[in-house]
Amino acid sequence: MAEVTWGLATSHVPSIGAALDQGKTEDPYWKPLFDGYRPARAWMSAHPPDAIVLVYNDHGNAISLDLMPTFTIGTAARFEVADEGWGRRPVPAVIGHPDLATHLVESLLDEEFDITVAHRLEVDHGLTVPLSVYCPEPGDAWPCPVIPVVVNVIQHPQPTAHRCLALGEAIGRAVRAYPEDLKVAVFGTGGMSHQLAGERAGLINPAFDRMFLDKIQDAPRSLADLTREDYVRAAGSEGIEMIMWLVMRGALGQNVTRIAEAYHVPASNTAAGLALFENGA
Ligand code: DHB
Ligand code: FE
Repeated sequence: MAEVTWGLATSHVPSIGAALDQGKTEDPYWKPLFDGYRPARAWMSAHPPDAIVLVYNDHGNAISLDLMPTFTIGTAARFEVADEGWGRRPVPAVIGHPDLATHLVESLLDEEFDITVAHRLEVDHGLTVPLSVYCPEPGDAWPCPVIPVVVNVIQHPQPTAHRCLALGEAIGRAVRAYPEDLKVAVFGTGGMSHQLAGERAGLINPAFDRMFLDKIQDAPRSLADLTREDYVRAAGSEGIEMIMWLVMRGALGQNVTRIAEAYHVPASNTAAGLALFENGA
């Protein structure tokens, strides 16, 4: 049977990808951020998964604002990297896992999550930057298949944090019911506090971020009790991306071990956070 072996939460700031692509990770601006990733990377490369379920949001690159599904799963065999306006990142296309993805869709629909199915999907920085956090030098191919799970966090009304945690729990059950012996890692991406536009552009809230980093391990339900307005108020209009970390947390069991953590301000306009958990240890 398949199992969820570990979960990674990480920010997905586009310029983190650009710093990697342009060889700037040792520049004074970027070095502290990338140094902070090191312990997590060392542990992840010693525990490679067979597949990744990657929870992220599209930023209007592949999914038009005219039609905004709340939860979408990509079932394709291959996902091209989106051109977000400055050319495609020089990273490999993402190979999917149609069989496990279809199993997730069926299981989630059976549990009454009304999932949208993407048979074709270009993946933006929300997905490719977290993959680079895991694997900075993929060469010609990413190390394993990836199933994109896309959450609407960019257009009101976003799903509740509670529903995101419940979705993660259902994903965990679905993975455990998959008959093949697969080690599956689940990524929750985005956040931490940031707001890119409007009167509060540049907002960072370290106290809220630290509280969230702390509680996600053993008290995720308290984070799921916060409303979407609570998230936007405390963490900014883009800080609500953090509800996707709860999908990851839900997919893990009750007992998790924190393997690594990093928090760095700023990466571009964002408080960049990372948390890595081993499941059930
Ligand atoms: C930035 C952060 C994001 O989450 C995003 O999607 C785009 C840009 C930033 O801080 O630059
Ligand atoms: Fe984002």
